[in-house]
Amino acid sequence: IESARKEREELYRILRSAADFFYDQLHHSPEGRIAREYIARRGLPAEVVETERMGFAPQSWDSLSRHLANLGYDVEPGIGAGLLARSTGKDRVYDRFRNRLIFPIRDEGGRIVAFGGRSLSADLKDEPKYLNSPETAVYHKGRLLYQLARAREACRQVRQTVLVEGYMDLLAFHARGFFRVVATLGTALTPHQVRILSRMSDEVVMAYDGDEAGDKAMLRGLPLFLQENVAVSCVRFPDGMDPDDFLRRDGLEGFEKLLRSRQELGAYAVKRILDGWDGSASARLKIAAELRPIFDAVRQPLLKSEYLRLAADRLCVSEEVLNQQLRHDRRTPE
Ligand code: CTP
Ligand code: MN
Ligand code: MN
Ligand code: MN
Ligand code: MN
Repeated sequence: IESARKEREELYRILRSAADFFYDQLHHSPEGRIAREYIARRGLPAEVVETERMGFAPQSWDSLSRHLANLGYDVEPGIGAGLLARSTGKDRVYDRFRNRLIFPIRDEGGRIVAFGGRSLSADLKDEPKYLNSPETAVYHKGRLLYQLARAREACRQVRQTVLVEGYMDLLAFHARGFFRVVATLGTALTPHQVRILSRMSDEVVMAYDGDEAGDKAMLRGLPLFLQENVAVSCVRFPDGMDPDDFLRRDGLEGFEKLLRSRQELGAYAVKRILDGWDGSASARLKIAAELRPIFDAVRQPLLKSEYLRLAADRLCVSEEVLNQQLRHDRRTPE
């Protein structure tokens, strides 16, 4: 146990050194100019770049690994921290992050535990837009949220947390002085994250990208909130925009207006499902089946009765009949 602790300490140290390296590359290397220009183009203020200690990973396969070796680190902690990787079959070690804008990811205590890296290459066909650290002894992406420490502080006054999908979305809020916001780390929302959110806030507002993917991801999160009994609502951005796009166009004022018109997520989901009904009697069963997971997950009688009223109304059946159908479906899974 003592040695596991020592090992983690070593990872924190090497992650810190890597962050310093990326930071230095961003500000002082000629190659870093591409990243500096990119930051300017995206409208990220210098203040945010500094506070976050954002960085730049150069194009080369071994600039970080050589730097860490010069500092006296072995290869193993570099691999253990997710900074370096071993090429399969060979004994070669290479830098995981190359030609990327670097977002340090901190744990609740503010220590750097991982990195997100956005590609700076013009062509995203051959590589993922974002590359993130793998799971390590100090980084469990399903148990952390991006900017959790900062948001927790900000949520002391207003116990409401905004949840977004992306690093850039989150920092677009910070750039405008809004800190009650966290992001998932490139994976689907987990029950653990929902519990973290429920402890720091009384309501979570999902503000995912305004495209179909964002909508679907939000709806997938609904059962988790319902099961954990956490109040959850959502805002939708127009024209497929994400929060970063929207804040650039309409500012924080525009967002606060959206926030005031937020919808409870379950009601939104029920309406979305009902929008898919073609009005035919035969499709009613299909719609009822789509509604079932929501009704299975909801714990609060008041919410349940509201969903039931919404759905029954639109389906032109009585609440009682719909309720019976939902119970019937539950007893006879296909
Ligand atoms: N993501 C990821 N890996 C990818 C694509 C996306 O981990 N290959 C995660 C990132 O955390 C990203 C989030 O999903 O921030 C949302 O993805 P997307 O909307 O595609 O990116 P944006 O955050 O909008 O990035 P940008 O504005 O830079 O295009
Ligand atoms: Mn893990
Ligand atoms: Mn998206
Ligand atoms: Mn996006
Ligand atoms: Mn974006």
